[in-house]
Amino acid sequence: MADEVDESSCNNYVEEEKEHLQYQGIMAFNTAETLLNLSDEDYIPPKFPFELPSFDSSMSFGKELRKHFLLDLDNWTFINHGAFGCVLKEALEAAHKWQCYVERQPVRFLDRELLSLLGHVNRRLANFVGSDPTNIVLLPNVTTAINTVLKSMAWHPGDIVYFFNTCYYTVKKLLKYLNEEYGVTLYEVTIAFPTSDKKILEVMNDTLEVGTRLALFSHIPSNYPVVMPVEEMVILCHSKGVPVLIDGAHALGSLALNLRALNADYYVSNAHKWLCCPKGCSFLFVSKQYQSKIKPLVISSGFGAGFNSQFLWSGLKDYSPYLSLNTVLDFWETMNPERIRKYNNTLAKEAALMLADKWGTSLLSHAKMFGPMAVVSLPEVLLNCVTRGGQEEANKSHAEMVQAKLHYEFSIEVPVKLLQGKLHTRISAHVYNEMSDYSRLCDAILLMTEEVHNNTNAYQAFVRYK
Ligand SMILES: Cc1ncc(COP(=O)(O)O)c(C=O)c1O
Repeated sequence: MADEVDESSCNNYVEEEKEHLQYQGIMAFNTAETLLNLSDEDYIPPKFPFELPSFDSSMSFGKELRKHFLLDLDNWTFINHGAFGCVLKEALEAAHKWQCYVERQPVRFLDRELLSLLGHVNRRLANFVGSDPTNIVLLPNVTTAINTVLKSMAWHPGDIVYFFNTCYYTVKKLLKYLNEEYGVTLYEVTIAFPTSDKKILEVMNDTLEVGTRLALFSHIPSNYPVVMPVEEMVILCHSKGVPVLIDGAHALGSLALNLRALNADYYVSNAHKWLCCPKGCSFLFVSKQYQSKIKPLVISSGFGAGFNSQFLWSGLKDYSPYLSLNTVLDFWETMNPERIRKYNNTLAKEAALMLADKWGTSLLSHAKMFGPMAVVSLPEVLLNCVTRGGQEEANKSHAEMVQAKLHYEFSIEVPVKLLQGKLHTRISAHVYNEMSDYSRLCDAILLMTEEVHNNTNAYQAFVRYK
C-alpha cells in the first residue's frame, strides 16, 4: 500500500504555506464560492503536502497497463468494469496518503487546508467535464446526487415524471417513492431494441407532453448500454418546456463530456466507475436557473451560505476519495482521455462483433450505438436448457445460473441478463482489457453450448447455481 507520509515534507509544506495563506477555515463557507468563481488567471492552486505520482504516457494499453490496477488478472478474466468500476492503484494509494496526512494534525487539515483542496478538485473536475466550477458539487455517489435533485423538488399530486424502461432500477425505486408519497404520475415509455437515435427521438416526440414536470434519462443505461442521443433529447425536452435530468453514471470516462454545450438542467455522474477513482466520488451539475431550489439531503454548517458551500460539509467524513481525484485526473491527462475512450469503445465493439459472429447471435442494437459496454445475445440453446426446455417461464434467476457458471467454473466475471425474453451478456472494456479476455468468454460459452447439445442431462450442470 501507500508509503508513509514523509514527515519532513509535511512540515515544510506547513511552514511554506502559513506565510501565504489567509485563514480559510472550512466553516468560512462563502469562501468556497469565491474560490470557484476566480478566473483561471487569478486562481492560485494550493500546494500539496506530498508528491503525487506521475505516469508514463508511452505505455501501451492492455497487458502493459495492468500494473496500474489492483485487479487479480492472473486468476480472473474481468470484463465487468461496468458493475462497480475498479480503482487506479496509484489513486487508492494517494487516498491512503491523504488519510494519513489528515490524521497528523486533523484540525489543521480540516479547518485550514481542506477548503482550498476541495475547491481545487472541484475546478479540475469542472474543467474535465466542460462546466463552470460553480455549477458542480461533489457528492459520494450518483444515487445521492439523484436523490438530492428529486427530493429538493416540491411535488404535487399529478405532476408527471417521464422516463424510459431503461432507467436504472434504484432510480425507479426512488420514482416509486415519489408516486407513493406525493401522488406523482410516473410515465414510463418502453424503448424496444434494436433501436436507433432516430427511433428514440421519434418515440419521445410522440409521447413527451408539454407540462411534464421532469424528464429523466440515463446517458448510457446500465442494462441497455447504448449511448443515448442526449444532446437532441435535451433540445426536444426544452422545446416542450420540460426540465431534464441526465443520469450519466456510465458517461464520465466513457464519453467526452461538455456540460455547457449539453445544456441539461441537471447532470450527475460518478468518478468511481469509468474514471477509476476510489469509491465515493461523484458530482452533481445544476444549471444556474435551478440552483436556488436544490438543497443537500444533509443540512449542516454550510446551509444558507451558497449553492456550493451547502454541499461541502455533511458532518465529519473521509474526503480522501475526492482528493484522490487529483491523481486520477493526472493519469487521464497524461494518457490522453481521447486515446483511452477510443481504446475502450473500439475494443468493446470489436469484441461484441467477434462474439456474435462466433456464437451465431446478434448485438442488442447496432454496434455503432455502444460505448465501452456492449450487449450480445447468447446462443438460444442455453436458455432452453436452463428453463428445462421451456417448462419454466424465463426469469432473472435463469440468467444468473449462466453467470454463476462462468464465474465459478471459468473464472470469468461478466453479467448475464434476461432482456426482451432472451439471454444476453454485457461486456465491458477498459484499458487493462485485451481481445484475449473476450476470446476466453467466447470459448466458455461455446463449451457450454456443446455440452447442452451433447448431453441430454445438461441441465444438471447448471442447476447447482439456481
Ligand atoms: C445508470 C446508473 N445510474 C445510477 C447508478 C448508481 O450509481 P452509484 O453507485 O454511483 O450511486 C448506476 C450504477 O451502476 C447506474 O448504472
